[in-house]
Amino acid sequence: MNRKKNLVATQEKIFLEDYKAPTFLIKDILLEFYLDPHKTKVIATYSVTPTISKQKSNDLVLNGKNLELLRIFVNDEQIDSKKYILNSENLIIPFFCGGKLKIETIIDPSKNTNLSGLYLSKSGLYTQCEAEGFRNITYFIDRPDILAKYTVHLHAPRKIFPVLLSNGNLISESYNEDTGILSRIWEDPFYKPCYLFALVAADLSVHEEKFTTFSGKKVLLQFYTHKTDIKKIFHALEALKNAINWDEERNNLKLDLNRYMVVAVPDFNSGAMENKGLNLFNTKYVLADKDFSTDIDYESIRAVIGHEYFHNWTGNRITCRDWFQLTLKEGLTVFREQEFITDFNVQNSSKNQASSAKAVKRIEDVKIIKEKQFPEDASPMAHPIRPNSYSEIGNFYTTTVYEKGAEVIRMLHTIFGENGFQKGMNSYVKNFDGSAATCEDFVKSLLEANGREDLFHIFMRWFDSKGTPVVEINEIWNPKTLTFTVTLEQKNQKGLIETKPLLIPIRYKFINAKELAFPEIEKLILFKEVKKTLKFYFPNSITCEKPQISLFRNFSAPVNVIRKSSSKQTLFQLKHDCDLFNKWDATQKLYMLALLEPKKNEQEKFISYLVDGLKDILQNNHISESFKATILTPPHDNFIIERLIEKKLLIDPNAVFERKNYVLRSIALTLKNELFSLFDKISSTDVIKEYKIDPNSIGKRQLKNLIQIWLSQLDIGPDWESILKKNFYEASNMTDRIEALKSLLIIGNAVCDEAFHFFYKKFHHNDLALDKWISLQIESKSFFSRNNKKVLVIVEEFLGKNFFTIKNPNRVFAVLGTFFFKNLKEFHSDAKSYQLWAREILLLDEHNSQMAARLSRSFDNWQNYDHKYQGTMKIALEEVLSKARSRDVIEVINCLLEKK
Ligand code: BES
Ligand code: ZN
Repeated sequence: MNRKKNLVATQEKIFLEDYKAPTFLIKDILLEFYLDPHKTKVIATYSVTPTISKQKSNDLVLNGKNLELLRIFVNDEQIDSKKYILNSENLIIPFFCGGKLKIETIIDPSKNTNLSGLYLSKSGLYTQCEAEGFRNITYFIDRPDILAKYTVHLHAPRKIFPVLLSNGNLISESYNEDTGILSRIWEDPFYKPCYLFALVAADLSVHEEKFTTFSGKKVLLQFYTHKTDIKKIFHALEALKNAINWDEERNNLKLDLNRYMVVAVPDFNSGAMENKGLNLFNTKYVLADKDFSTDIDYESIRAVIGHEYFHNWTGNRITCRDWFQLTLKEGLTVFREQEFITDFNVQNSSKNQASSAKAVKRIEDVKIIKEKQFPEDASPMAHPIRPNSYSEIGNFYTTTVYEKGAEVIRMLHTIFGENGFQKGMNSYVKNFDGSAATCEDFVKSLLEANGREDLFHIFMRWFDSKGTPVVEINEIWNPKTLTFTVTLEQKNQKGLIETKPLLIPIRYKFINAKELAFPEIEKLILFKEVKKTLKFYFPNSITCEKPQISLFRNFSAPVNVIRKSSSKQTLFQLKHDCDLFNKWDATQKLYMLALLEPKKNEQEKFISYLVDGLKDILQNNHISESFKATILTPPHDNFIIERLIEKKLLIDPNAVFERKNYVLRSIALTLKNELFSLFDKISSTDVIKEYKIDPNSIGKRQLKNLIQIWLSQLDIGPDWESILKKNFYEASNMTDRIEALKSLLIIGNAVCDEAFHFFYKKFHHNDLALDKWISLQIESKSFFSRNNKKVLVIVEEFLGKNFFTIKNPNRVFAVLGTFFFKNLKEFHSDAKSYQLWAREILLLDEHNSQMAARLSRSFDNWQNYDHKYQGTMKIALEEVLSKARSRDVIEVINCLLEKK
C-alpha cells in the first residue's frame, strides 16, 4: 500500500478504513494486584475465545508495554518462551485456538512518569487507562470493542495504602495481622472496555453520603482525597447530585450503580476520567473553597463533574467501537455537559434572566470554537471530528473532536428540536446499550427516529471533513419590486466552492421593523446545496428600506460566515437584534473593525460605533450583569489571530498587542463615567461582602472586576491604586483577590510587587493557588515591575525554583503552558523563547510525552506568523523533530512541518 511507504519508520499510522472486528473475545477477567510503589505484581486470568471458526486458528496478539513478564499459563499449564513471541509492544501466541490464559507480570509504578497505566502520585497509586494505558498494566487486547466483566483483588500493606478501590461493588475485605496486608475484592457487574478500568491505593480520607435520586433510587456517593483537603469536596458533591438528577429528569437516564466514587489525584494528565463507578479527577477539577478557588474554578468543577458523570451513559454503557469514534462519546458528552450547565444557570430565574443566562453560556461555548477550534482547523493539525488516521491517539483529544463534535450534535438538536432529539437519543440508547458503537449508529438512530433517513449521507460529511466551512452571503434589495434576495454559497477554507456540500442549519429572522410581511418568528432552513437563493417579498414596506436579516442565530452551525455588511449595519444589529448571541457577535465584529483598520479616521469611526453600542447595553436595565460583562469583554488574542488567519494576514503578536491596547484605552476613556458609576453601583452591593456562587452573584462580580481592569488601563492616580489595594488585601474570596491583583499588574509598581509577595506568603503551601500565582505573572503583558524583568526571564527563574517539578502536570502547565499559549506578545518577543520551547519540549518528551505533545501544539499556527518569526520557529521545530523520541511528539511535529 502506497500511503504507508512514505512514512518515517517511527510514524506507523493506523487507518479507520482498516478497522477489523476482533478475532478473539474476552468476557471475564480476574486481576490480582500485589501493590507496591516499586514492584507491583499483576496476575491476569481470563478466557479467550476466537470469534471465527474454531478450526482456523489465529495468532493471538496481546498488547503490553513496560511490563516484566514472569510466567504464562495456558489452560493452567505454564508455557515456555518458545511458545510465544515477545517484543516491546506485544505478546503473541501463534496459532491460538482459545482457552484460559494466566499471565504474571511485574510493573514499577514509581518509574511511570508518563502517568498512563499504574503510577505513583505523592504517596498513592492511581491508574489512567484511557486511551491505551491498560497495556502498561498487563497483557491484554487493549481496544475498546472488547467488553468484559472485571473482578479485582487488591493486596497492599495497610499502613501505606489503607484505601483500596476499584470499579463496581466491594465484595469482601480481609486483613492479615502478621503481614500487615489488607486485601479487598471488587466486582464490577457491568461489561466494560479496559480503558474504563481503575484502581486506587492510597492514604486518603473519605466523605460519603447516602443520596436518594430524583426517581427514588438510593446510592452511596463517596469522595476521596488527602485528609487536609476533605472539606473542599462539598461543591463537587453538590454538583454530582445535580448531575445525577438532571440526567434523570431531562433525559430519563438513570444511575445504574449503588456506589459512585470520586477520587482527587494530585498528578493527573488530563482534567478527569470517567472510569466506571470510580471517577478519577485532577485535584484542580474537584477541590474548591472560597479562599483558594475562583468563580471559574467553581463553574468548571460543576462542568467536569457533570461531564464525567454523563459519560456513564454516553461512553461507558455505550462505548466506542474504536478510537476513531472518540467524538461519539466526547462530542456527545460535551453537548450534554453544556446543556446541563445551561439548565443549571437558568433554574429559578425570570424569563428575561433566563434568556440572558442561556446566551452567556452559549457565547462561552462558541468562544472556545472561535478561539481554539477554528485556529486548529486552519492549521496543519486540522482533522475531521472523526479523524481517518493517527499514529498516537492521545494527540486526538482535541478541541475539534470535543467542541466541534459537540456542535455537530447540537445541529441535530437544532434540526429536530428537544423532543425529536430525545426520541433519537432514546432509540440510540435502546439499540446500543451494552455495546461498542460508531458515529453512524448514533446519527442513524437520530435520523430514523425523526423520519429523516434521507439526510444520512449528507449529515455524515460533518464527521469526515476537516477545515472550517465557509458560507458566503450576498444580499440584494430591490426597492422597486420590494424583493429581498439572499444568496448563500458554501465554500471551503481556501475559498473554493464545495462540491460536496454540508448540511447547514440556519436560524434566521428579520429584525428591522414591525412590518407585517416579515416572518415574526425565528425560522430554520436546512442549507444543503452548493448555492441557494432565498427570496422574500415585502409588499407592505412603507419606507422601502433594505430589510435587516439576522442569520445563524444562536450560532446555528460551526461555520465561518462571510457577509459584507457595513459597520452601520453591524451597529444596527448590535442594537436591535433580539438574539443575544448575534448581539454579541456584532460587538465582536466592531471590535475587529476597530482593531484592524489602518486608517486613523476610519478607525475612530469604528471605535465611536463600538462605544455607542456598548453604552446602549451598559445602560440597559433589562440586561443582566453577566451578559454585560460578556459583551464588554474584548476579543481574546486567539480570536484576533483566527480573524487574521482567515483574512490571510500574517500575525505579529506585538502589533496585535499595541493595537488592542490603543483601542481599549480609547474606549475606556470615552466610557469612563459610565464605567465608574457602574463600578460604584456594584461595589456597594452585598456581592462584595458575602461570597455566593449563584449565576447572578457571579455575573455581578464578573462585571465589577472587568470594569476594574478597564479603568486600570487609564492613569487615574493614587486614589484608584488605593481602591485596588483595598480590594486585593480585603477580598473575601479568591475571585476578587485575583482580579484586583490583575489590575495591580497593569499599574505595575511597587504596590504590585508587595501584593505578589503577600499572595505568595499566604498561599504558597496550596498547590492550586500557587499555580495561579505563577500563571498570573507569566500571563502578564504589561511591563512587570520587579526589576523590569521580561517574562522570559521570569519563566527561566521559575523553572529553577524548588516549587517547580516536571512531575506535576498542573505545575508544568502553569509555567510552560501559560508562557507558550497565553502570552503571545511576550513569548514571541525574543527568539530565545523558541530555544526554551525546544529545550523544554525535549525534556518533557523523555518524561511525559503526552504533555510534551500537548505543549508543542502551541506552534500549530506557526506558518501564519510574520516572516520575522517563522524562520526561527522552524529551526526550533526541526530541532525538536531531530531529537524527539516519543510517538506523540514526533506525530505533532511531523505534521506541523508537513512531513506527513
Ligand atoms: N475521557 C476523558 C479523559 C481523557 C482525556 C482520557 C484525555 C484520555 C485522554 C474525560 O471524559 C474528559 O473528556 N475530560 C476532559 C474534561 C471535560 C470536562 C471536557 C479533560 O480531561 O480535559
Ligand atoms: Zn469526556
